[in-house]
Amino acid sequence: MEQLKSHGKWSGKWTFILAATGSAVGLGNIWGFPYMAGTNGGGAFVLIYLACILIIGLPIMMAEIVIGRRASSSPVNSMKSAALDSNRSSNWQLIGWGGLVAGILILSFYSVLAGICINYIFISALPDLQLSSEEQFSITTSSASNLLIWHTVFILVTAGVIASGIKNGIGRFVRVLMPLLGFILILMVLNAVINGDFLRGLQFLFSPDFSQVNPQTFLSAMGQAFFSLSLGMGAIMTYGAYMSDDQKILSTSITVGGLDTLVALMAGLAIFPIIFASGLEVNSGGVGLVFITLSQTFETMFLGQVFGPLFFILLVIASLSSSISLLEPSVAYFSEKNIISRKSAAFIFGFLAWFLGIGSVLSFNILSDFQLLGDRTILDSIVFIGNNLLLPLGGLFVAIFVGWFMKKELIQEQLQLSDGFLNTWYFFIRFVAPIAVGAILITQI
Ligand code: PHE
Repeated sequence: MEQLKSHGKWSGKWTFILAATGSAVGLGNIWGFPYMAGTNGGGAFVLIYLACILIIGLPIMMAEIVIGRRASSSPVNSMKSAALDSNRSSNWQLIGWGGLVAGILILSFYSVLAGICINYIFISALPDLQLSSEEQFSITTSSASNLLIWHTVFILVTAGVIASGIKNGIGRFVRVLMPLLGFILILMVLNAVINGDFLRGLQFLFSPDFSQVNPQTFLSAMGQAFFSLSLGMGAIMTYGAYMSDDQKILSTSITVGGLDTLVALMAGLAIFPIIFASGLEVNSGGVGLVFITLSQTFETMFLGQVFGPLFFILLVIASLSSSISLLEPSVAYFSEKNIISRKSAAFIFGFLAWFLGIGSVLSFNILSDFQLLGDRTILDSIVFIGNNLLLPLGGLFVAIFVGWFMKKELIQEQLQLSDGFLNTWYFFIRFVAPIAVGAILITQI
């Protein structure tokens, strides 16, 4: 293959773990997971979710790292190199291209939602007590210019971190902010222990009620596990490309998957007890759970004007460390090919995501009645294409490629597993993951 510009590696083992955990931990954990658990029967959903992480998420995460690390390049070129070195068609690189597209699409709406979180840091610090939290939310989102400003701020910060490089930008960002995220989350859980109905929260999350489980629950749990681990679009593949060769892929993936799950559960424990304590409902779902129900709780809670902003700061940090990984695969590709510099790539693709994001901004206000795919708004359509189609499709093809088409020696060179572990992993990646992910896809269409 032609010579690609080298990206360098993370400094130290922990940087990969922090960066990958940063990618994984995001709006999906702190906001998506609690409301999905809230609307799908609590504990039963949590159990199914854990199973999905273990038997589908972890094997695919390992596969992405294998492909990324052996080529040390963007998903497009890593897929191409793995395919050519296995004497397969270079068309497998299309998986990488799909990832770049998915990353930009997801970033476009992710940034709008994260922008609302930035706005809420201020709103929750100085709440207007004349307004109900529904009214507050509706005022916030009915102004397109307001949403656009925060969306712009969020994209600029994302592109700025990426432009500063892998070591000095992304690496430094996650080394400082991921520990802070952990610290704030612990504070939020302690707050829920003190100010909330903690026992009821625990019971809700951990005592399974299977009467509410139906086939849809399995699909939601699988989709959520996928999105939450950042799989299927090459984010983990790209971060794996910067991982040093002596780091063990199995134990590292278990650490990242474990931390991601821990954060999701802790977010549930931070949120549900205080909602229960104020006598509100947890299954109001969607956007409402965080911006309406939770905000209402903060208004009346002891020190709510401190914990409210802290909670939204937590969401913003988590979203930034995820958004970086949505943009990095595209930037990596265009800078390693020497087409443009890393800096220019960061801002050009950041601009593209910003521009597409305008559609999501308008879905909250001017174009809220406009329907794109079926009865979906622009925002919901992009969420659907990105999260429900492109991510599972990417994951499905990665599993099929690695399980059935990639040379076993090349894989084992990276994984270095004992026969027993290797065969177990093969079983999941060849059979379990493709069937399960295929099932999600079929029901989406
Ligand atoms: N995992 C992130 C979250 O939970 C979202 C994400 C998906 C990030 C795919 C990168 C790639 O919010």
